Amino acid sequence: MEKYIEFQNITKVFPGQKALDNVSFSVREGEIHALLGENGAGKSTLLNILHGMFPATEGKVFIEGKEVKFKSALDAIDFGIAKVHQEINVIPELTVAQNMMLGGEPRKGVLLDKKKMEQETQALLDKLGCDFRADEKVGGLSAGKKQMIQIAKALYMNAKVISFDEPTSSLSNAEVKTLFGIIRDLKKQGITILYISHKMDEIFEICDRASILRDGCYITTLDLKETTEEVLVQNMVGRDVSMFAQRLKPSCADKNTTVLKVEHLSGPAGFDDISFELHKGEILGFFGLVGAMRTEVMRAIFGADPTYGGEVYYKGEALPHNRTPHTVVEKGIGLVSENRKEEGFVKNFDNADNIALASLKKYMKGFFVNRKMKEENSVKVGETVGLTPNDPEFLTMSLSGGNAQKVILAKWLSTDADILIMDEPTKGIDIGAKAEIYKLMEDIVASGKSIIMVSSEMTEVVGMSDRMLIMREGKLVGELEREEFEEERIITYAVGGSQS
Ligand SMILES: Nc1ncnc2c1ncn2[C@@H]1O[C@H](COP(=O)(O)OP(=O)(O)OP(=O)(O)O)[C@@H](O)[C@H]1O
Ligand SMILES: [Mg+2]
Repeated sequence: MEKYIEFQNITKVFPGQKALDNVSFSVREGEIHALLGENGAGKSTLLNILHGMFPATEGKVFIEGKEVKFKSALDAIDFGIAKVHQEINVIPELTVAQNMMLGGEPRKGVLLDKKKMEQETQALLDKLGCDFRADEKVGGLSAGKKQMIQIAKALYMNAKVISFDEPTSSLSNAEVKTLFGIIRDLKKQGITILYISHKMDEIFEICDRASILRDGCYITTLDLKETTEEVLVQNMVGRDVSMFAQRLKPSCADKNTTVLKVEHLSGPAGFDDISFELHKGEILGFFGLVGAMRTEVMRAIFGADPTYGGEVYYKGEALPHNRTPHTVVEKGIGLVSENRKEEGFVKNFDNADNIALASLKKYMKGFFVNRKMKEENSVKVGETVGLTPNDPEFLTMSLSGGNAQKVILAKWLSTDADILIMDEPTKGIDIGAKAEIYKLMEDIVASGKSIIMVSSEMTEVVGMSDRMLIMREGKLVGELEREEFEEERIITYAVGGSQS
């Protein structure tokens, strides 16, 4: 069916913000349809309307030719419209089976039929090739496994449409492979799929067509077999952008000046005997597969997690073992966390306040914090990271996913930190803003500061680092100078093959 889902003149106005502006296009039955656009373009908003999370201000949604108006996400699921979202909504204290059946439990008398529930769930998990059990508690499962539960749930509810909003951003490579296999199977079963991602290679690998949004407006729908990445990006951003992670300026690394020295660091998270140095003006890449424990090492250096032992020296001075993020920030080290949603900003704060959080002293006049200085800083740094809307009074939690990330980046850029640890700095960031962030990193090191960049994106670490360290399963397993960067060599270290 050509118009299986049809969006007709959809407009969505939030207080002070038009998220969608007269959007019309349709999705074919049984296709995998990508939704593309920069951060804040309106992708998640459109899906939320489809799923009954909130109504459109104007416009209609048709499914199989009939207008639908879901009052809630459950309402949509009853109709067969399910979603697998990145912010995974499972309840950690319940078992896999209980989570799957939430909202639709089979009943035996007044009691839940626990056995039937577990059997049915197990059957579905087996079908999906999952290696966890229906009676396990969800809490300890990896992001990928939690996602499988959502997929199983969608199948259990007999979904005809399943949408994925940035599903791979927390998955390991192996989990991504499994996910793509399952999505292809869903397609074979005739299920229609909507797919949001900022990763272009994924779009070309798995999707059939792509609809592009820009600033809340519909631009076009393209057949992915007949188009190129350049064309997609051109339509998404409406201008030419560099799509490459590359150094535009010469390296500023000063090998004779060590600003951070880590010796024999180990911790309860499972990393062991980590030793390395960071030089002044250097971008030091930390590569590894998801789960290599790079984040855990950074948190330990930063004082956010305890350690068993080992020393951290900042410009020759040993940091105390009982250091806290607060004292470490005072010294001059900042950590742009990977989990920016959870750790990065205060819910009820606007952009100006959130961006000022780590640099309050800068805005003091006598005993008082000067709001105007905060706002000026917010606008200035907001522009550097491409924040939209770049409005100091906008509530950070109402921003789109990628823009909320930019606020956290802006917060750390506002500090005078001499060392910035950036954990997956471009995760969730659109392709137009990525290049800006790379440029920014170069500016930071050019001003004599140093950066540790943790990343799982090979192109990014290879393109941006002066030197690269590679971790695997809690251990440092390799170190390469820029002229030694070779994809094959790096992968071999990361997955643990032999080095010749
Ligand atoms: N609850 C809300 N209140 C006010 N504005 C909102 C709200 N939710 C979204 N917006 C605004 O609507 C616009 C579209 O946001 P949306 O989340 O749909 O973007 P997106 O395309 O999914 O971006 P990203 O790639 O960053 O996830 C943004 O400008 C955002 O600030
Ligand atoms: Mg989004």
